Amino acid sequence: MGLLERIYKWMFRSLANQLLFTYLVIIVISLLAVSLWALFAIKSESVTDLRNSLEVEAVHLALEIDNDLGMDSEKSRQRIQSAVDRHATKLGVAITVVDRDGRVLADSSTISPAPDGVNISNDSEINDALAGIVAIYTRNERTTNSNWLYVACPVRAAGQTTGVIRVGVQLTEIEQRLHRDLIIFLEIIFATGVMTVLISLWLARRVNRPLQEMSMTARKIAASGDMSETVPVKRPDEVGELARSFNQMIRRLREQERLRQEFIANASHELKTPTMAIGSVVEALQAGAAEDPKLRNQFLESLERLVDRQANLLQDLLDISRLDSGQDMSLKNEINVQQLINDAVYQVQPNAEKKQVEINVDSDLDGAVVMGNSIHLQRALVNILGNAVNYTSKDGNVGIKATLDGINEVEIKITDTGIGIDAEDLPKIFERFYRADKARSRASGGSGLGLAITQEIIARHQGSVSVESEVGVGSTFVVRLPVKVQAPPVERPLESDADKDAVLGSHE
Ligand SMILES: Nc1ncnc2c1ncn2[C@@H]1O[C@H](COP(=O)(O)OP(=O)(O)OP(=O)(O)O)[C@@H](O)[C@H]1O
Ligand SMILES: [Mg+2]
Repeated sequence: MGLLERIYKWMFRSLANQLLFTYLVIIVISLLAVSLWALFAIKSESVTDLRNSLEVEAVHLALEIDNDLGMDSEKSRQRIQSAVDRHATKLGVAITVVDRDGRVLADSSTISPAPDGVNISNDSEINDALAGIVAIYTRNERTTNSNWLYVACPVRAAGQTTGVIRVGVQLTEIEQRLHRDLIIFLEIIFATGVMTVLISLWLARRVNRPLQEMSMTARKIAASGDMSETVPVKRPDEVGELARSFNQMIRRLREQERLRQEFIANASHELKTPTMAIGSVVEALQAGAAEDPKLRNQFLESLERLVDRQANLLQDLLDISRLDSGQDMSLKNEINVQQLINDAVYQVQPNAEKKQVEINVDSDLDGAVVMGNSIHLQRALVNILGNAVNYTSKDGNVGIKATLDGINEVEIKITDTGIGIDAEDLPKIFERFYRADKARSRASGGSGLGLAITQEIIARHQGSVSVESEVGVGSTFVVRLPVKVQAPPVERPLESDADKDAVLGSHE
């Protein structure tokens, strides 16, 4: 595996590595760039300074010796030599003076003196200066094995170049300084890199620990369903926020799990009662009741009631679980509200007649249409109407008043003159399995699921259902549903194909 591939793998092993690697690369590259720029700037500035001072020195010397340069005498040569030595020692530089042909007249260098009389016009700077230009060259001298900076200035008299003064300096000092600077820069880069790594690792651990805790808790829930633990929330940042949401999720799951268990316990309990009753009736029949025709009929009738009740309960449980599982409820039927009410009344009418309860419908709907699922909506209305009839005694009244509230909403008010509901029970009657008057509700075959189903269905239709009641006087249930705006007043048959797909039974 190549190095690049290894780095690549390491980098993507964790979020922290990716961050660390990115920071490190950015920091090292930018520091390197800044350092290189600084080194070049320092070097060029130092060299420029040096060159300027060498040039000034050459000019000073030229002023001193330009008279002697033209004269070819021993005396003038000595004067030149002594001036050269003086300037050279003062500045610690090497100075060479050549005549107009490039022959050495004087040289200060003790390291590699150019012998008098030797022609050095081949050296580039001398050559240039003899041509009248101030020449600047950097060259590696083999004799000293070091870089030298040379400035060569022509000395002129009467428009003629009479000679050249060359001032040279060894660049070792500048180079050493640059070397030192380079090392300091590299040390800074290394230290910054190490600091970046340490800070990143520390940060990564800080971020990682709560994330790991969360993933461990999640794994525990996934493996064994154990939701007893939440994760500690200690931080004010995004990771803390995540932990808070995570804990909220766990609490919600716990609540759902509690509701689920409660539901199963309730459902089993509700199923057990009629099942046991059926068992007793069958036992009684076997024990001889079947011989007596009167008794047999009585027992068979109660068997029929019990089985009906069982079937109703199972249907309710099935409906609730369908609604809970969010199974697609087609909401695409156009439902004429008047038709909906008529059909619901038609369903509860036999029971009402049996109980001698009168049902009155008073509606002003102007052909209002709601969008939804007609089977479900009818089920919801029948549940409320059925209750109104069930919990109202002989010669009572059930009234339905349906009106359009503005153009957007239809209001269906179902009022009865029944037993009413205690204020204490009122907020709970929409809960699953809740029955205000257990004895009476059970006697009428109720399981306490009807209103829960109703509320769920109405909510799916973006509607609402509310209740007001007074014990001994009666109850009023109000259903509100959004109306399809500017609906054409179409009369539709209630059972469309889509409705038949989603069969929901009715237990009235
Ligand atoms: N119109 C009403 N008058 C008086 N009490 C009512 C009325 N409607 C509902 N209730 C009370 O609210 C409770 C819950 O009603 P819900 O329809 O959910 O259950 P149920 O009628 O007992 O059983 P089922 O699931 O068979 O409908 C009832 O048990 C009853 O005590
Ligand atoms: Mg009911």
